[in-house]
Amino acid sequence: MKNIKETLFTKKNIEIGPESGYDNYIMAIESSCDETACAIVKNGREVIANVVASQIKTHAKFGGVIPEIAAREHLDSINIVIEEAFSQAKDIAGINPEDITAFAGTVGPGLVGCLLVGLNAAKTLALVYDKPFIGVNHLNAHLCGNYIDTELKPPFMALLVSGGHTQIIDVKSYSEQYILGETIDDAVGEAYDKVARLIGLPYPGGPRLDKLAQEGNPKAFHLPEAKVDGYNFSFSGLKTAVLRLVKSFDGKEMPVNDICASFQECVSSTLLKKLKRAAEEKGYKQIVIAGGVAANSEIRRKIFSLEKEGYSVFAPSMKYCTDNAAMVASCAYFNTNTFDDINVEVFSRVK
Ligand code: KG4
Ligand code: ZN
Repeated sequence: MKNIKETLFTKKNIEIGPESGYDNYIMAIESSCDETACAIVKNGREVIANVVASQIKTHAKFGGVIPEIAAREHLDSINIVIEEAFSQAKDIAGINPEDITAFAGTVGPGLVGCLLVGLNAAKTLALVYDKPFIGVNHLNAHLCGNYIDTELKPPFMALLVSGGHTQIIDVKSYSEQYILGETIDDAVGEAYDKVARLIGLPYPGGPRLDKLAQEGNPKAFHLPEAKVDGYNFSFSGLKTAVLRLVKSFDGKEMPVNDICASFQECVSSTLLKKLKRAAEEKGYKQIVIAGGVAANSEIRRKIFSLEKEGYSVFAPSMKYCTDNAAMVASCAYFNTNTFDDINVEVFSRVK
């Protein structure tokens, strides 16, 4: 008897991506953390449907994401977001499920129980509609959020800042990229969330801290910038410095806005310096930021200020910065490394 997996998935002759020569409609599912999302994107750039079910309300009760609860919420939402995406595609573009070129799903990094929900849904859709399945790396997908609604083409220097990762990436082509540096301890988003908790802000801390920082004085407190080799980063010392600062008020009323602004100033200037140096070294004139923290007002302002120095700067619109499935669909289209493999499994950390 033939291996059923081989029988069902031998579609390697179907070309997908910019070289395919025909219109691609990719449906993707994202469920790596606390958003259940489904999207349909035409040719990697044009969003036909985009649905996101956020779990913020649930996790706010616990002050953070509880993996088991998150996975159960994904199960509750997954069919709803898929149905809604199909319905939007039908209404907006007359696209039916049979018109989908391939189905894609995030395979990692992320919370394993959460990833399994979206990945199995995407694989099932591929089987039902007899189409290829494409497994997508969540970090690559964040970068690809920049292709949506733009004409951006590699090469470019990218800064990826999310809840779990901080990387400077040399993107040479759609499928060839090199990590030049990354954090040696906390990711930027993690540092935001931890500092937010230290000063008593509710979950999700990052965006709240950003808001308060905009009302504060960034020069109020001098916080130390970690000296780390090359293009690597470290943010745990900064977090400890904020802890010490908070303790120094010894229960007295804290200038919360000034603490937030000073922290944000330190983080954003560190990121700017290294990103600019990497772009200069490689001679790139295009700079890209991506990931949830790319929604941060000061990081965006500083990096967009490089336009005055002749750089073209790209950042996804806010809804494509934090987790969404449109970026996953775009990645399945552009990143031809991960093609048509139903056997692909989830992973929690970057291998
Ligand atoms: O990319 P993302 O949605 O999920 C991961 O893949 O990790 O990023 C979530 C992170 C969280 O740490 C959140 O606090 C942070 O992005 N974040 C922000 C802002 N918006 C989201 N951090 C600082 N300022 C913001 N405006
Ligand atoms: Zn993410």
